[in-house]
Amino acid sequence: ATRLVWLESPTNPLLRVVDIDAVSEVAHSRGAMVCVDNTFATPFLQQPLHLGADFVVHSTTKYIGGHSDVVGGAIMTNNDELERQLRFHQNAIGAVPSPFDCWLLLRGIKTLALRVERQSQNAMELATALQSNPAVKRVHYPGLDGHPNRAVAARQMRMFGGMVSFEVADEATALRTLGRLKIFALAESLGAVESLAEHPALMTHASMPPAERKRAGVGDGLIRLSIGVEDVADLIADLENALS
Ligand SMILES: Cc1ncc(COP(=O)(O)O)c(C=O)c1O
Repeated sequence: ATRLVWLESPTNPLLRVVDIDAVSEVAHSRGAMVCVDNTFATPFLQQPLHLGADFVVHSTTKYIGGHSDVVGGAIMTNNDELERQLRFHQNAIGAVPSPFDCWLLLRGIKTLALRVERQSQNAMELATALQSNPAVKRVHYPGLDGHPNRAVAARQMRMFGGMVSFEVADEATALRTLGRLKIFALAESLGAVESLAEHPALMTHASMPPAERKRAGVGDGLIRLSIGVEDVADLIADLENALS
């Protein structure tokens, strides 16, 4: 029998949104637990334990640190017995962050809400601008009216987050666009104060077999953006110039 349902929401890189409350209800009715990778949403925008999940994991490398200078992870649960088991394993395995990494994370988390609020505002404006660009075939952002999961996102998230992806004609167009960006850095990470762009098919999702990647909807013309806290007019101008 299934013991654990593992999900992420919004998903990487297509920004689909999973109804955590509904999945938790079905999973629990069959005796399975639910773990949510909340890395894209952050605890400021979405709190899966309040929506019925049993565990939440974060790559703290991303929004929690927020400055592209620390690597780490965190797992949360509201079940005392599971917490006891996790602490035992952490101690036994030695998966313990250094004092300096903890210091960076604690310093970063003080501005989490400020950063994510600005990143979400920037992302909404930028996604809207991309939608009317003739070189863009499709924009994936949960805050857009046409997004298939917008209603679920509005219900379970405070804002729609700082990640956006969009499709251009083909791989050559995507690579030319990435090469012409001046403010966005070409990099795989995400969630920091500076804006990043990447090509999932050749970078973050290169280890997926091509047929599986296509089936998942990760095409050769897809570009993923992690929106930072810069002036959004500069970010939009940078993208429009790169796409022109
Ligand atoms: C949604 C999501 N979860 C987990 C990870 C893993 O994070 P890390 O590289 O910090 O282990 C990443 C990125 O690498 C991610 O994008």
